[in-house]
Amino acid sequence: MDWRTYFEQRKVSADEAVSHINSGDRVVIGHACGEPSYLVDTMVAHAEDYENVEIVHMVAMGKCEYCKPGMEKHFRHHAFFVGGNTRDAINSGRGNFIPCFFYQVPETFHTTMPVDVAMVSVTPPDEDGNVSLGVSVDYDYEAIMSAKTVIAQVNDQMPFTYGKLIPVDKITYFVEHSSPIIELAPPKIGPVEEAIGKNCASLVKDGDTLQLGIGAIPDAVLMFLREKKDLGIHSEMFSDGVVDLVEAGVITNKKKTLNPGKFVANFLMGTKRLYDFVDHNPDVLMLPVDYVNHPVVVGHNDNLVSINSCVQVDLTGQVASESIGSKQISGIGGQVDFVRGAALSNGGRSIIAMPSTVKGKVSKIVPLLDEGATVTTSRTDVDYIVTEYGIAHLKGQSLRERARRLISIAHPDFRESLQAEYDKRFPQQFIGEYA
Ligand code: COA
Repeated sequence: MDWRTYFEQRKVSADEAVSHINSGDRVVIGHACGEPSYLVDTMVAHAEDYENVEIVHMVAMGKCEYCKPGMEKHFRHHAFFVGGNTRDAINSGRGNFIPCFFYQVPETFHTTMPVDVAMVSVTPPDEDGNVSLGVSVDYDYEAIMSAKTVIAQVNDQMPFTYGKLIPVDKITYFVEHSSPIIELAPPKIGPVEEAIGKNCASLVKDGDTLQLGIGAIPDAVLMFLREKKDLGIHSEMFSDGVVDLVEAGVITNKKKTLNPGKFVANFLMGTKRLYDFVDHNPDVLMLPVDYVNHPVVVGHNDNLVSINSCVQVDLTGQVASESIGSKQISGIGGQVDFVRGAALSNGGRSIIAMPSTVKGKVSKIVPLLDEGATVTTSRTDVDYIVTEYGIAHLKGQSLRERARRLISIAHPDFRESLQAEYDKRFPQQFIGEYA
């Protein structure tokens, strides 16, 4: 059948589309700023029609009404990531958190979590009958490929990005609805973030390829890269800060050893400025997460520098990034994918950067992680830890030396108590001449 005929025949209203969701189904929702909010809202409006629908989502940027109190009978939330909108649901039992490396999420659709319905956002079709997933290809691509039913919100405001287009016949129902793409405002950058940014930037060399996590710190790093040359991007995601460096001629992707000349990412979070930059931009490759984040693929980029953040680091270098004690506040995301990928990269470096304290009150460098805290990046994987007070290079260092280096970048108010813990833990008499 001609693709135009197929597309026309498969256009339905949102109400009709969500009527194809059945009680007990597993529904995978398009990720982050690619969430098909109109479809999600319509599904929630029909909550009374469903029992026990499992919602699988990662970074949830929408209203997340499916996990609000009162929805328990209709929806169960299964989260690969926990954010501001879903923390309460996960920690008060209205949802479950699934520990998973981001690059392995698509694989779960073929093993433990087969997909009944994928609900995604797409652009209108191009001349050849392909739609683009725009700002979110990540796990959306495999969800579409493996789902029994695919419902797509066709949004003419979604930027058309290249890399992995979807032929219209892979989609079961199309719901046309124009709406602005979810935006993430640039974070506020204060003096602490600036100092961290400067320290991280001192570890970046001309020609490096960067992975940047979410938040104020990666953005602050970008501000201090203006003097560098020929940087490249191979990152799970990127945001507006990258556009400034492209305009300043700093990011050229010329020196990349994998996908030279191209920005490589699997999702994007930013403002309309970023979305306009990527729209029909042949230099931007939006690809599935099982390629972009696979540590072996990451490692094919020489001089790959990854920059992510965390909640706590203990004196041996164990990094807790996703929980405060046993309370799940975030997820693994691509942190470990890129820490390990950077370790496989010739000349690669991985950086975990964080403010030395929580609002000046509590040290983030601690003798022991809080009881119940999850180790996200192990002390065997960790490379550089950076705070506003400096850089601690931990890889290849003894536990004793790691502790010394970490104390030297802790907030001065906490160094004495950390030193007292160090003295208890590493008594001199066992070391002799090597102390
Ligand atoms: N003790 C107590 N509370 C702490 C804390 C600590 N050691 N560290 C952070 N917090 C609190 C903050 O005060 C804040 O609370 P609030 O929301 O009530 O203000 C909350 O935890 C979030 O911390 P914040 O530092 O504001 O978060 P951030 O936006 O800078 O993100 C991470 C930091 C670690 C949560 C984030 O980088 C992350 O999710 N990392 C793991 C995933 C990852 O790296 N993915 C790769 C890139 S996508």
